[in-house]
This record gives sequence, structure tokens and C-alpha cells, in this order.
Amino acid sequence: MEFAELVMKRRTVRRFEETPVDRAVLEKIARLGQHVPSAGFSQGQRLVIVTDPGMRRRVAETCGETLYAGVGMGNWISECAAQFIPCVSADIYHRRYQEPDKTGDGGSEIEWPTPYWWVDIGKTSMVVMLAAHDAGLAAGFAGVQDIPVLKALLGLPDEFHPIGVIPVGRQLPDVRSPSLKRGWVPFEDFAHWERW
Ligand SMILES: Cc1cc2nc3c(=O)[nH]c(=O)nc-3n(C[C@H](O)[C@H](O)[C@H](O)COP(=O)(O)O)c2cc1C
Repeated sequence: MEFAELVMKRRTVRRFEETPVDRAVLEKIARLGQHVPSAGFSQGQRLVIVTDPGMRRRVAETCGETLYAGVGMGNWISECAAQFIPCVSADIYHRRYQEPDKTGDGGSEIEWPTPYWWVDIGKTSMVVMLAAHDAGLAAGFAGVQDIPVLKALLGLPDEFHPIGVIPVGRQLPDVRSPSLKRGWVPFEDFAHWERW
């Protein structure tokens, strides 16, 4: 699919077939998700990919799936082919920025103008969603409500933080988010030429 079409047609989907997707397809999505820029090439991003139905249900519980089901949206976080869970370690960035090429004359870590680890895991997430779409699949995004339980469930090393759950699968008709009623910010408000 052409890039502009891919970007314009992607949407957050909240209903999927549970039929499995080939491991090779899932792996291609994951490999593309790895190839994003990161501050200092720190590469603090990781993905956990869950396909097992029982595990998918337990992962979905940490995102409050029953609340979605209760408002007619169905079990869209567990009923999918795979869940991609983007995780990030701020500690990897801190360690990287204590290396000599990053500490400068003062010999100490920078004052972070922006916590770039959140920026970089966002890029990973976006590429995963676009890559799923490009593979003829669809993807959603659910925020995690119980981070400690999800970390324990996935066996994450303590320094890693799971930022959300991206269910991926073949698209079914779904209930659109009521948030979409807000409409897009006008392009003129979004993009400012030369200065604000
Ligand atoms: C950081 C982030 C968190 C989100 N969390 C949720 C969520 O918890 N549940 C949900 O249904 N959608 C969630 N969404 C999806 C947004 O509602 C959705 O992206 C937005 O409504 C625009 O729709 P679109 O992606 O189809 O263009 C989240 C999106 C982002 C980027």
C-alpha cells in the first residue's frame, strides 16, 4: 500500500477475528517496530508478543476489558490474533547518557529536556500499528490500568514499563470510539509555517 494511503486509512480498530496469523507475518511487524530512531541510539524499546488465548485474556483484564464489553464493544483486547505490548526502559537511556560521548565536559548525564524514552516507544507503537495495517490486518490500542499485574504476568524485568496493549488481527465491524466526535483539529491549527 502506498505510504500516504496507509497513514490516512489506518484507524484504531476494536474488533478482530481470533483466527491465528502466521508467525512470519507477526515477526515482520515486530521487526519493523524495532527499526525506529531512538535518542543516542539507546534502543530502550522492547515488544512482548502474546498469542496464547489464555494469556491474551489475562493481559486484557489488566486493561479493564470487561468495562469495554459492558458498554457493547465486546472483548476486543483479548479476541485477536496477537497482542503486541510495547515496553520501555528509562534506565537504558540513563545508562546510555552516562557514556563518555554523551556526558560532555561536565562528566554527568544531561538534564533531559524531554523524556525521550516515551517519545521512542511511541514511535515503535506507531510502526507496529502501521505495519499491521500494511499486512492486511488491523490494530487497536488499549491503555493498561494495572501495570504491576501486567508486568508480573509477562515476567518483565523490573526496569521495563508496558505502555499499552496493541491487539492485532483480521478486522471485524466494530463500535467506533465516541472520542472521534471531537473531529480533527483544523490543519491550520496543527501546522504553523515559519513560526507560531
Ligand atoms: C496513547 C494512546 C492511548 C489510547 N488509549 C486507548 C484506550 O485505552 N482505549 C481505546 O479504546 N482507545 C485508546 N486509544 C485510541 C484513540 O482513542 C484513537 O487513536 C483516537 O480516537 C483516534 O482514532 P484513530 O486511531 O482511529 O484515528 C489510545 C490512543 C493512544 C495514542
